[in-house]
Amino acid sequence: MKILGISAHYHDSAAALVVDGMPVCAVQEERLSRRKNDAGFPMNAIEWCLESAGLEPEHLDAVVFYERPMLKFDRILTSALRAFPRSWRSFPHAMKNTLGEKVWVKGIITSQLGIPGQKILFTDHHASHAAAAFLTAPTRRAAILTADGVGEWATLTVGEGERRSGGSTSITLSREVKFPHSLGLLYSTFTAYLGFKVNEDEYKVMGLAAYGRPTMVDQVRTVIHRLPDGAFALAPEFFEFQTTAERSYSSKFIDLFGPARHPHDAIDLDSPEGQRFADCAASVQSVLEEILVDIARHLRRETGLDDLCIAGGVALNGVANARLLTEAGFARVFVPPAPGDAGCALGAALYADRVYFGNPDRDVPDHPFWGPDVDGGHLARVAREDSQSVDELDNTTLIDRIADDLAGGRIVGWMEGACEFGPRALGHRSLLAAPHDAAMRDRLNAQIKRREEFRPFAPVVPIESADRFFDLPPGGARLARFMSGVFAVRPECRSRLAAVTHVDGTARVQVLEREMAPRLHALLEAYGRRSGIPVLLNTSFNVAGEPIVTTALEGYLTFRRCGIDVLVAGSTVVSKRTAAASLKESREWSSSSVAASTVA
Ligand SMILES: [Fe+2]
Repeated sequence: MKILGISAHYHDSAAALVVDGMPVCAVQEERLSRRKNDAGFPMNAIEWCLESAGLEPEHLDAVVFYERPMLKFDRILTSALRAFPRSWRSFPHAMKNTLGEKVWVKGIITSQLGIPGQKILFTDHHASHAAAAFLTAPTRRAAILTADGVGEWATLTVGEGERRSGGSTSITLSREVKFPHSLGLLYSTFTAYLGFKVNEDEYKVMGLAAYGRPTMVDQVRTVIHRLPDGAFALAPEFFEFQTTAERSYSSKFIDLFGPARHPHDAIDLDSPEGQRFADCAASVQSVLEEILVDIARHLRRETGLDDLCIAGGVALNGVANARLLTEAGFARVFVPPAPGDAGCALGAALYADRVYFGNPDRDVPDHPFWGPDVDGGHLARVAREDSQSVDELDNTTLIDRIADDLAGGRIVGWMEGACEFGPRALGHRSLLAAPHDAAMRDRLNAQIKRREEFRPFAPVVPIESADRFFDLPPGGARLARFMSGVFAVRPECRSRLAAVTHVDGTARVQVLEREMAPRLHALLEAYGRRSGIPVLLNTSFNVAGEPIVTTALEGYLTFRRCGIDVLVAGSTVVSKRTAAASLKESREWSSSSVAASTVA
């Protein structure tokens, strides 16, 4: 059975293809259209999925959309009516921008793909999230927690999933919290208040939180309070997102927390104003964590299960995930590589396969690499035409050469096989660098990433060495498989891992098993033999404001216009002329100075 899953029209559109119960490919539209957070109908992603599987649209047994558009329409209409007359300005805006083409999605799929209406299915938004987490995790029975801004009506659900030995699968979401009460919208409101972009920059709030103290948790608890049944409610007088598209927080919110930050003003952490913003971020982060942990503890008690699967945009919060692991009572916590709405494309397709059609359970490969491949031969041709220095090397020589380059302080663009599905670079489209010196972080920021200084870079470490450098709790390595948890760097290692250690001594570490990315694993070991520390800085291969690179050509063009020194794809290594020359010079210099000192 061939099932295409689609998520679209909100943010992070994507397509995924499941054939005979197994994912075949999955990609976000932005990686192909090159428009960051592309929310359009993912025609490029769909075409690529079908082409790479050798299918035509008529071969598909079903196309599954990741949510129910009419329920979303109902939610927007109902909210507008409840808030009338305050909402009369925002309703047309919500209709146009939030809903857009969504209510007509069946017609769009039919007209774009020529799929008859009876083959088009819809799943609940949070069922798609739940399936993306549970059906890709190596567990047969688990509690499930999903949390995001909002789907149709639900913003948080809890339940459980079971993959039975007979082959049948069930996913039961037994309780939910409904819009406008939403942990995701609470966090997004603070994201906007702190001058960042909603639905894009939430992780900046988490990064900023490490610089602050949770001095405003009482104020945060005024705007979100707990209910006797364990749920929570936002106090409507502090929010505007349900009534206007212009601003998500009200003037009462400003009375409570102080003036908002203007997006163009720099955050000066040495000033009282900058510290207030950091404290505010720390406070909302703290309240988010305590609510999530409390809900998960109840879920653990209720289900008695050892495993927890979490998804939804809130599951991108690695600090909260780590607290869930250590405090909620579960032995293992699974977060898929694409916990946000893009991942719903795969979740919806798997949900339709296992639950709607009742097809037998299958183990899904435990990796994130479902996107387009990179072509090293193409890179070699392009770079030679551009008169760059190109080497094609066998694997052992390449690993040694790149480990030398990294030890020599060079920044490496590392492209390998199929690109990652989800927002993290996990070793197939990564920028790698030495992790020891804070100057490397500053160089990456100045020359390539242009990120705010309070946003840390992440490390990658082989699983065999992880405990030497990072203080991982039981289950921590699993949570760190897809960079989903933030953990303490061992205090004695922090000065040697300065480029990847956040101000609070933590890191969003990726713990790598050899079989998931064997070449990166070999590179880490080779680097460890040179430096004594098998850890590398691993950040996504893109420049500020652009999607992560997909093809060899995109990697090459990025390499040419910023401070990346060396580019690798397959067996091809391209070195910048200037970098190669400086390396040669420095080697000549060091050998001549060794010779000179020997003579002396
Ligand atoms: Fe969602």
